[in-house]
Amino acid sequence: PPAAVLTIDGPSGSGKGTVARRVADELGWHLLDSGALYRLVAYAALSRSVPLDDEARTAEIARTLAVRFGADAGGNEQIWLDGSEVSREIRTERAGDGASRVAAIPAVRAALVARQRAFAQAPGLVADGRDMGTVIFPEATLKIYLTASAEERARRRYNQLKDKGLGANLAALSQEIAERDRRDASRPIAPLRPADDAQIIDSTSMSIDAVVARVLELAAERF
Ligand code: C5P
Repeated sequence: PPAAVLTIDGPSGSGKGTVARRVADELGWHLLDSGALYRLVAYAALSRSVPLDDEARTAEIARTLAVRFGADAGGNEQIWLDGSEVSREIRTERAGDGASRVAAIPAVRAALVARQRAFAQAPGLVADGRDMGTVIFPEATLKIYLTASAEERARRRYNQLKDKGLGANLAALSQEIAERDRRDASRPIAPLRPADDAQIIDSTSMSIDAVVARVLELAAERF
């Protein structure tokens, strides 16, 4: 039988990355952080001086991306790209902004489809991104669309970057988030939108714990 799949889509800063990781841990399932793939493509392009709007070359990078996901002894995420550990580098706003640019290129998205579907392995997969429930796993048993107000999302992103010791400016972040939302929602291919059968959770005034509990409750009903 196909592996069980739970998708969590939503805009940046909605908390879906943290929620997806915690839900995957609780269920003992695999995790797909699809945004990391687009960030890796952008990061690789930027480090090779490939223009982010060069469709052929960014698609080639997406097709040949040599990436390995893992964790260090302390359980911290590690992402290896061509032999270098780049988990911090791909979390910068520059890589995030670049990700949303290459993510608008149909050939880049197409190159990543099979790679993403391959994550669906027993006992199950929690997949987080923008189009997990709409494009990559349309047959998923449970689809969550996690959102929050733009102000709250900017504030969370700010705290997240601070915690990682990365520089951040709240006003600039708010603007970048608004711009990224606009680009993600208005692109012709796989725009950010809830699947018709998605459960919508607005986390603006919810703690991460409360969101995780709600998702696990829905998962217990469905799986
Ligand atoms: O979720 P994260 O902020 O890491 O994603 C970075 C960018 O990658 C998003 O702004 C979006 O443009 C793109 N993305 C996408 N489809 C996904 C995941 C991410 O287009 N499934």
